[in-house]
Order: sequence, then structure tokens, then C-alpha cells
Amino acid sequence: MQFHILKKHEITLGDVDSCLVIPLFEKDFPLESALLSEADELRLQTLADKEIITGGADENYYFPCPNSDYQGILVLGLGKRDQFRKETLRRAAGKAVEAFRSNRIQQVILDLSHYSELPAEALIEGLILAQYDFTVYKHPEPDATEPVKVSAVTLLVRDDYDPSLLQEQVRVAALSAMSANGARHLANTPPNEMTPSALAAFAEGIAEDSGCECKILEPTQLASLGMNALLGVSHGSAQPSRLIVLNYHHSDDAKTVAIVGKGVTFDTGGISLKPAASMHEMKYDMCGAAAVLCTMMNVVELKPKLNVICVVPAAENMTGDAAQRPGDIVKAYNGKTIEVHNTDAEGRLILADAMAYTVDKYKPDMIVDMATLTGACVIGLGHYAAGLFSTDDTLAEALRLAGEESGERLWRLPLWEDYERLIDGNHADICNIGPREGGAITAAAFLKRFVGDTPWAHIDIAGTAWGVKNIPYWSTDHATGFGVRLLTQWLLQMQAQD
Ligand code: BES
Ligand code: MG
Ligand code: ZN
Repeated sequence: MQFHILKKHEITLGDVDSCLVIPLFEKDFPLESALLSEADELRLQTLADKEIITGGADENYYFPCPNSDYQGILVLGLGKRDQFRKETLRRAAGKAVEAFRSNRIQQVILDLSHYSELPAEALIEGLILAQYDFTVYKHPEPDATEPVKVSAVTLLVRDDYDPSLLQEQVRVAALSAMSANGARHLANTPPNEMTPSALAAFAEGIAEDSGCECKILEPTQLASLGMNALLGVSHGSAQPSRLIVLNYHHSDDAKTVAIVGKGVTFDTGGISLKPAASMHEMKYDMCGAAAVLCTMMNVVELKPKLNVICVVPAAENMTGDAAQRPGDIVKAYNGKTIEVHNTDAEGRLILADAMAYTVDKYKPDMIVDMATLTGACVIGLGHYAAGLFSTDDTLAEALRLAGEESGERLWRLPLWEDYERLIDGNHADICNIGPREGGAITAAAFLKRFVGDTPWAHIDIAGTAWGVKNIPYWSTDHATGFGVRLLTQWLLQMQAQD
């Protein structure tokens, strides 16, 4: 997608596939645009007078303009001014894509001349996210017309506006949304193709030409390092596990941040087998991995003043005669022994080794993991917030803020000592499950035992990684890419503080 920030005299109209987008706060009349023809302005005013156009949230009014220099006008309703959030514009843009699609619009001109304070980058994000589709495996209908997408966006600003800040915000937003689409693509790709080694190959692709180092550990290396919790999960699978490390080094005196993502490329539950009904959705059990890897695509491009270590334990959780059994005891990288009472609680096992290894080897100043970890988190928070758990209030607050900014919201849950007692082991140091109640918290309490004293946050994205309804820029039947925009925002926030 191309972007231009232009002033009125720099714009040439006349493209048949262009749409003039006029944002409008609720009842904020008169409805004006620097580019409207007199006749169209009159038509708009009439519609506004009749309260057909009101500027209400979720209201997008498109009308064709066959005799004008643009193909159509879209009035983008933003709702009440005092309730406006960045997310309002992101969602409005997502909704507008329906009109652009059905009217075959390829060029959008967003008139910011009356609302120069609007965060136009959110519109760009909404557009890029909403235009994502996943059609690689589907043949088109024989007589279907080729769908078109918006390929150019012009932001029209006032003559006295300095575009440099907006330029940078748009660049970051577009990159971030495209990387989020990358994460969605990894997640949507079927599990017969998106294997641990395919994830590793993707990571190698990021490192190529980017000056970032990539290291892939294979089973023999994992065994000699003592990562038996990770290895145990993939015993039932023909796909060998991997530990993937991407290391972006900025400078020796910069902060080091580690991001770790759960990469279970398919989760049958193992011997503690899951029910059949929704099992196919467990191809999404690598959404944490997809999020941290695609965040690195942003990191290598934006080059923040931070050292960023990205770690992905990747494994497939299958059944079979070599599969891990309930009752097995494995010794993790940090020497702790784990009693596996349920082979379906596999995410915490692979993360245990990955995080213990990361803190030991890279000594990060902080570590954040992201995982589709528990069904309990979905029950507790539904699909509109990911669970946040942290040993560090400053880190938790910074992540929460990044969540508000990016629209990928977080809600903090407690991590008190009481919960930790519930996963004490019987025949080993720790048990991999607790009681059913508070399942998202005991999962987090389990992870806590593998990060030592390093400030740590855990983000459970089981509810937000796919299947989210009513967000116009995310379709319900795709992965959302949740986490890429959140983590990127957080990293950029952090480097801005130094
Ligand atoms: N990948 C699942 C968690 C999950 C379930 C994510 C549904 C999204 C939707 C995880 O590996 C798992 O199976 N967790 C178990 C843990 C339990 C056995 C303690 C769960 O949540 O049921
Ligand atoms: Mg599981
Ligand atoms: Zn899982």
C-alpha cells in the first residue's frame, strides 16, 4: 500500500477508482471537505439535515458520485467526540473496507483538513488489517470477478500542517499491521505445513539480511542442554521439536528485553486427548510464537534502542506409543522436576524450558511471554482482553498502556502465593496442573517458577488469538495476529523513555 501526506494544492483528482473519505464526529455539522464539489456539498448537507448522515459511531455512509472527480464519498462516523479513542478510527476504517470492496475502490483520500488532530495512523492500521484474507488454499469460483483492494491512501492535511510526525506514525502503523497480518498467515496455515521446522525456517527468513542473529536448536542439542520438558511434549510426534532464538543486538549498554512465544503447532492434548469438536482450532496453538516472531519483523526494521531476544519453543503435541504419559516426571533446564498429570497442559512445559534457558543464557532485564495457554482464560475474560500476569508492577502497567494504545487490551489477574501452593508436586517439585478453578492463574504460577528473579509478565492470548466477533478489522474465522501491535507499541514506548 502506498501512502502520501498532501496539501490541497498538491492533490490531483480525477481517478475513477478513488473515494473521498470525510470523517465526522456525531452531529458535528456543517459537514465540510476541502475537496468537495459544490453540488456534492449540497447533497451531503441535505442528507445531514434529514439526519440520514449523523456521524454516529459505526455509521458509514457511502454514495457514488458519477459526475465528480472522485468515484464516491464515504462519510466516516466517529461517534461522540468525548468518547473517541484510537480504536474508534481503527474500527471505522475496518468497517469502511466493506464499502470499498463492494464499490471496487482502490484509492482513498482521507480529508483531515477539519480534524487534523485525528490519529490517521489508526485508519491505516484498520485498512491493512481488514483487507487481510487467507485464500491460498481456495480456488476462486469459476466466474468470480477478481476482488480489488485499496492500494493507495492519501492523507489530506491543512496547508499549515507539518507532516513529519504523521509520516513516521503512518510508517510504523503500516509496518506493524502488515507484520500482524504475517502472524495471522502463519497461524492460519494448516498444521500439516506449519510444523516446528517450518516455524524455524520462517525465523531464519527474518534474520537473513537483517543483521539479526538466528539460532535453531534441534533435539540432540536440546537433550544435552537438559530441556526435557520441551522434548517430552514432542515425543508422540513425527515432527521433532525446535528451540528458535532470534537475537537483535542494538548496543552493549542498551536494555535487554526477552519475548517468548508458545509454539505448539498442533495440540491434540496428547494422551489426555481433547474432544474432537473444536480440535482443528488447535492449529492456532502457535499464535504466541507467531506474535513474537512477527514482532521481530518490526524490530529489525524499526531498530529500537534495545536489545531484543525472541525465543520460541516449538513442538507438536500428539498421541502415540512414544508419547508422554500422565504420570511421567521430567527434569527441566533449571533442574526442577515436573510431574505431568495432564499431557494437555503442554504449553507451560515447553515455555518452562524456554524461559529458564532465556534468563540463564541472555540475562535479560525483563522477560515477557505470550501464549494460548488456557481455556480457563477464555472462560474468565472472553475474547476482548488477554490475561496479564506479572511479578513487576511497572512492567505490567507499561504493557497495559501499550494494550490501550494498540487496541489489543490486557486485563491483569493476581499471582499470589496462595495459587502457587496449588501446583506443588506430589512425587516431583511441581505438578503441571492445578485444580480446575483459577486455571489461568495456576498456569501462570507454574511459569513463574522458571523465570527466577527476572521481572516477568505472562500474557495469555487463548481468547484473543482467534474467533473474536464484532471487531470490523478482524474477521471471526481467521487468527487475529494479536500481540504483534501490542508488543511493538510496548517496545517503542520503552525506548522512548530512555
Ligand atoms: N492450547 C490449550 C489452551 C486453549 C484451549 C487455548 C482452548 C485456546 C482455546 C492448552 O494447551 C490446554 O490444553 N490447556 C488446558 C490445561 C488444562 C489441562 C490444565 C486447558 O485449558 O484445558
Ligand atoms: Mg493443551
Ligand atoms: Zn496448547
